Amino acid sequence: MITADAVTKRYPEGREALRDVSFEITAGEMVFLTGHSGAGKSTLFRLLAAIERPTSGSIVINGQNLSALRRNAIPYLRRKLGLIFQDQKLLFDRSVLDNVLLPLAIVGHPARDSFRRAQAALAKVGLTNREKTMPIALSGGEQQRLAIARAVVNRPVIILADEPTANLDA
Ligand SMILES: Nc1ncnc2c1ncn2[C@@H]1O[C@H](COP(=O)(O)OP(=O)(O)OP(=O)(O)O)[C@@H](O)[C@H]1O
Ligand SMILES: [Mg+2]
Repeated sequence: MITADAVTKRYPEGREALRDVSFEITAGEMVFLTGHSGAGKSTLFRLLAAIERPTSGSIVINGQNLSALRRNAIPYLRRKLGLIFQDQKLLFDRSVLDNVLLPLAIVGHPARDSFRRAQAALAKVGLTNREKTMPIALSGGEQQRLAIARAVVNRPVIILADEPTANLDA
């Protein structure tokens, strides 16, 4: 499902964030990546989400080799991924509900079912009755849970999460 082969990522100033990283993750696995601050966790996340490209090595995700992927094919790959960013990337100019509806709107999912799914996703993360709230009015942990609801609402085949529990209680 995800294969990394000898992946190295070097940033312009010569800083090597990842060196010769290889691993394989199969369908149904739940994998935790741990490491100290600056170890390269977010870098790997960005490579897997095709936000950045490796300096060398290859990544195959859901049968697609990211190195061979054309730029205009990337949005289609991302629709199969549920992404939870370390800095959440919520849209602060729209409500909690509209943040969760966005991934469904992008793929043209029918409105009525979208609403049902968004409500179910919000219920799953304990944000029922907060639909009309603006994200700025949520606590840090609530914002984190909103980001999780948005990542799962489209039932992605792969969920990639960067420090998803950072602001959450047990
Ligand atoms: N855009 C960039 N340009 C240059 N160097 C970068 C860039 N992004 C990350 N780095 C460097 O790559 C290394 C790995 O960073 P990364 O963000 O992947 O770490 P991390 O494991 O996610 O850390 P944290 O636990 O603090 O989130 C760090 O030394 C960082 O300074
Ligand atoms: Mg990080």
